[in-house]
Amino acid sequence: MTDPAAQPRRILVTSALPYANGAIHLGHLVEYIQTDIWVRFQKMRSHECYYVCADDAHGTAIMLKAKESGETPETLIERVNTEHRADFERFHISFDNYYSTHSPENRELAEFIYRRLQANGHIATRTVSQLYDPEKGLFLADRYVKGCCPRCTTPDQYGDNCEACGATYSPAELIDPRSVLSGATPVERESEHYFFRLTAFTDFLRRWTRSGHVGEEIANKLSEWLDAGLQDWDISRDAPYFGFEIPDAPGKFFYVWLDAPIGYMASFQNLCSRRGLDFDAFWGRDSTAELYHFIGKDIVNFHALFWPAMLESAGFRTPDRICVHGFLTVDGKKMSKSRGTFISAGTYLDHLDPEYLRYYFAAKLSAGIDDLDLNLDDFAQRVNSDLVGKVVNIASRCARFISDDTGGVLAENIAEPELWQRAVSAAEPIAAHYEAREFGRAMREIMALADAANEYIAARQPWQLIKQPDRAAEVREICSLGINLFRLLMLYLKPVLPDMAVRAEQFLNTELRWNAAAFEPLCNHRIRAFEPLMQRVERKRIDAMLAASAAPPTDTVRPARTAPAAPDTDIIDFAAFARVDLRIARIIAAATVEGSDKLLRLTLELGGETRTVFSGIRASYRPEELEGRLTVMVANLAPRKMRFGVSEGMVLATGDGDDIYLLSPDPGAVPGQRVT
Ligand code: 2FM
Ligand code: ZN
Repeated sequence: MTDPAAQPRRILVTSALPYANGAIHLGHLVEYIQTDIWVRFQKMRSHECYYVCADDAHGTAIMLKAKESGETPETLIERVNTEHRADFERFHISFDNYYSTHSPENRELAEFIYRRLQANGHIATRTVSQLYDPEKGLFLADRYVKGCCPRCTTPDQYGDNCEACGATYSPAELIDPRSVLSGATPVERESEHYFFRLTAFTDFLRRWTRSGHVGEEIANKLSEWLDAGLQDWDISRDAPYFGFEIPDAPGKFFYVWLDAPIGYMASFQNLCSRRGLDFDAFWGRDSTAELYHFIGKDIVNFHALFWPAMLESAGFRTPDRICVHGFLTVDGKKMSKSRGTFISAGTYLDHLDPEYLRYYFAAKLSAGIDDLDLNLDDFAQRVNSDLVGKVVNIASRCARFISDDTGGVLAENIAEPELWQRAVSAAEPIAAHYEAREFGRAMREIMALADAANEYIAARQPWQLIKQPDRAAEVREICSLGINLFRLLMLYLKPVLPDMAVRAEQFLNTELRWNAAAFEPLCNHRIRAFEPLMQRVERKRIDAMLAASAAPPTDTVRPARTAPAAPDTDIIDFAAFARVDLRIARIIAAATVEGSDKLLRLTLELGGETRTVFSGIRASYRPEELEGRLTVMVANLAPRKMRFGVSEGMVLATGDGDDIYLLSPDPGAVPGQRVT
């Protein structure tokens, strides 16, 4: 196989900059996870690759939000930046730099680029008439004006189009317009605006958009826009505005979308200063480095028209590729707060492992722009079946025969060289899929190998062979091959599952690196004790996440978490407490109760004695997952006759309104023991 290090590439990668006024949610994460997988793959292949991003910190929305929460925009964006960084880190998004567009580097670059555009005759000024809120003292963007549709008279329509009849219009045409911000009747007012002369780049953009910088579907969409005729782009906003003032234009600010993509450069420049990298080698016109922007399909015009035209005029290189993805739906529908499917990164992380989502997205991602559906049943099923049932299963089934019977050292030989070779030969096709952003295909190849490994182990049945003392060496060889196959699978999955890969490296006692040595089997190699690598996804965790997301909307910026207030309680003395007989109990059987959707019938063992208890925990537990588990019960509660039978005590649990949590003692507690 070819040594990837032979031709190292220099690659700069960005994801779109999230606005600094809201929390990261799963819709955002499609893109960050997609980009992160691609970057991790490039780095594993020994390329010099940098991944930069930043908060998009400017604009009216951020200014208003800060005002609403009684803080300065600077404090708001600082706070949100800290939250965004924390969310990204917990999802293992490995930025080389995460910065802010409200930075000295970005101001300097925005001014520099603007002056170049101006020097090239690509800036024009024009008087624009716009609606103005006389109470707030602000010009109103279309979304800040509402009124009756001028065509069908439906009330409460935004300033640009009618949701009822589809008409498009200017806000000044609305009947009885109102400012969304103050309720005041807006007035028309004129002011001078600065324009980027995009029209001068029509020919350039026709060529650029047909030169492999975007996929075909996007190129076709762009052709439609180009055929319809471009318009010059309004890049200024009047004070008050949170952003950078335009040089030599007091009271005029760069529109947020002017300095946002420049934020990619500024974040990289900040990285260059910290790491001593050469900025021009990546952004200069003669750069031989590769440049990729990962974005959603809603912001293609900014990245594939305005941005290359600006870079071209300002004398910088243009991107090699704009990698466009579709939107996220949840259970086939647009994310919705009322359905609980508008799930923030933080809420997801409160309930589920980030690597479940990384794998699920990877399994469904392609280079196309189709929307990606997070089907929550399929999510649980696929993660459990692929990662836990196939990949982890190989290691867990084989490890015990290596660690118990051979002192933890793998065999000297590979039992079935063809199977090993098949897994080795998959490396380049898998790499090609990663490179082409066809992650779903890569995952399918990897899972086909996992199936082959499991079939091999199932056919050889080491657990049966081990019963014949003279076949121990054979068992060791079979399981050593199993573990070697697991090693290759985890190597291939490492860009997607970096955290599980660390645990696998610990078990395998070797680093998973994509180099020539990776494709030689580990023979005579000592491995470490097997520890569980991944837990199964539990549906009740998903449901708890949905319930938490459906909670009444809080501030988009997550407030500090606070413990719920303790209910009022009576004070009791110790003697009263001592009268409650709390005991450790083992759940030996659990069953649903016909006619009740809340109760489970638990059979509890208390050291020789058995009790039946009806407990209202059905919403959070499936009976089979409770069997064998220890819990705590009140053993001297008077028996209660219920519709379904007599309940002989009570098990202890807590709940937060969404989910129920059964109390469990630490391991070592013995059924029947008194709890004091
Ligand atoms: O659409 C958005 O969320 C923007 N904040 C993306 C900016 S990407 C880049 F151009 F800065
Ligand atoms: Zn209408």
